[in-house]
Amino acid sequence: MQLENSIESSAVLRGERTLLIEPSMNHLDELYDLLRDPDVLLPNHGLPYPCSKDELGYELQKFKKQEESGESIGFCIYETSLEHVIGTIGFNEIDSENNTAAIGSWLGKQYWRKGYATESLRLMLDLGFTHLQLEQIYAKVLSTNVASMRLLERLGFQKEGVFRRQVFRDCTFHDILVYGLLKCEYSQVFL
Ligand SMILES: CC(C)(COP(=O)(O)OP(=O)(O)OC[C@H]1O[C@@H](n2cnc3c(N)ncnc32)[C@H](O)[C@@H]1OP(=O)(O)O)[C@@H](O)C(=O)NCCC(=O)NCCS
Repeated sequence: MQLENSIESSAVLRGERTLLIEPSMNHLDELYDLLRDPDVLLPNHGLPYPCSKDELGYELQKFKKQEESGESIGFCIYETSLEHVIGTIGFNEIDSENNTAAIGSWLGKQYWRKGYATESLRLMLDLGFTHLQLEQIYAKVLSTNVASMRLLERLGFQKEGVFRRQVFRDCTFHDILVYGLLKCEYSQVFL
């Protein structure tokens, strides 16, 4: 992984096909277009459902404040050959006393199943475990979100538990599954 200054003069993480760039309000239109698809928005239980452009703008600003206070670190996923943003990825709930953080990610539907989430997640796992010294990274996934479950399992995450009927979304209570990966497990698989 390389840290470098590039697009929009923001610090980025570089993968083979993707750059993780600092999000800004300049990305609002692109992100909103990608999130308009309910298949993309519904599993993103950190965002309102439905989500207007104003609400998304508010969430971006809220996220910036959380970054300033050290609770979050997030990026837009930028595809280098397409030269545009295809989704986002980030840590939230960063707990610097216990060295844990939650990870979340989404991509526009036209970019699914091309390995972009795997590449971006691997960059974030390296950032989290190697540079931020996290001991555990976890993800909270709707129990209907098979894509995320398979993705996390392939990267070595284990299912740790379930919060029953934790999220009310689209007129239904959803169970939330928690998947976790420990630093020692990451080291065994990736280093
Ligand atoms: C979950 C998500 C980020 C996966 O992104 P992606 O770039 O398509 O994932 P990858 O291409 O890296 O897939 C890696 C592996 O995950 C699994 N996977 C991905 N999508 C899958 C699906 N729809 N069904 C079953 N397995 C799936 C597969 O094992 C896949 O490997 P393969 O394509 O070689 O079989 C994407 O589907 C998405 O944005 N979904 C909507 C938002 C969301 O759910 N965000 C997570 C909230 S917690």
